[in-house]
Amino acid sequence: MNHSMKRAIISGMGFYVPDHVVKNEDLEKLMDTNDEWIRERTGIQERRWVEPGRDTTSGMGVKAARKAIENAGKDVSDIDFIIFATLSPDYYFPGPGVQVQEALGLDTIGALDVRNQCSGFVYGLSVADQYIKTGMYENILVIGSEYHSGGLDKTTRGRGVSVIFGDGAGAAVVSATDDPNRGILSTHLHSQGVHAKELALIGPATSKWVDQILEENDPDDLSYYPYMNGNFVFKHAVTRFPEVIMEALEKNGNTPQDIDLLVPHQANLRISQFVQRTMKLRDDQVYSNIMRYGNTTAASIPIALSEALEEGKVKEGDLVCMAAFGSGFTWASALIRW
Ligand code: UT7
Repeated sequence: MNHSMKRAIISGMGFYVPDHVVKNEDLEKLMDTNDEWIRERTGIQERRWVEPGRDTTSGMGVKAARKAIENAGKDVSDIDFIIFATLSPDYYFPGPGVQVQEALGLDTIGALDVRNQCSGFVYGLSVADQYIKTGMYENILVIGSEYHSGGLDKTTRGRGVSVIFGDGAGAAVVSATDDPNRGILSTHLHSQGVHAKELALIGPATSKWVDQILEENDPDDLSYYPYMNGNFVFKHAVTRFPEVIMEALEKNGNTPQDIDLLVPHQANLRISQFVQRTMKLRDDQVYSNIMRYGNTTAASIPIALSEALEEGKVKEGDLVCMAAFGSGFTWASALIRW
């Protein structure tokens, strides 16, 4: 590595979740499901769902970003680039990055929108890392935010998907440092588009325009609800997580025992436990908060990392690993010397 090169550290994290708590019991009133099934299969006890009109994807992102900036000890004006990851933007276009630029009053800085679903935050972090290393930017906001609840099929028909997902946002300020002992060590990104439709929301989009949906007026057309082949996604997830974590560790000459904290995408508690067993990690090495928030896709890692920091579970010098897997399929990891 070029020693004059800057390194990228996460200088501050923040998160925001809507006030409205939806417990598993509340879902029993909407669909044929029950607390026991949801807990056993996913570990989820409750999630936050936006009360319509109260929050937006961009707005939650802005709230998380303001906290991250404050926790970084920075001023809003220090931010020189925005990266926003979501699969549930306020608008079909433009993406929410520009809404953050406007809301924070950040002159005309660049805003990039990332569309990598559950891996979106780690993909965004990887982009930020490269910009910092080349000296292009000094302080980059990386935001993951999701407003799933408005678009879920909340009937028994959609229960395999809708009980899992929650709303919220998390953000990081990624900053340049000259300290050679800290920072993002490496990031690893993957995709496998052959499985694109195994976890997807097909329409309305250019493959299924609104006109076509309205013309067909087919009550069995569920293409405008998220679809997930749960078992199939699960099987791939439990293979790809350990694989991409090992890739990061091997790249840096580390072993699973060296990890101080693994912050996996909170997809399903069973998946995280599977990964923990496969990699022989101790309980204190793996962070989980899916019990309280469900799966918040691009927001899940930054929310989890924010809480881990608040709970004092990450300190300077720790080896922190983030890993994600989801729709695309895409999967990714990042290894950080905190
Ligand atoms: O975040 C990105 C990546 N996403 C993931 O990693 C998610 C991966 N997949 C999963 O987490 C799991 O596959 C699920 C939690 C989605 C589903 O768990 P599963 O153990 O794979 O259940 P299943 O889909 O095989 O369904 C088992 C049974 C079915 O009934 P029958 O056919 O056995 O009679 C379902 O109809 O459970 C039924 N079921 C439900 N029952 C009560 C499905 N959803 C529900 C529900 N409540 N919400």
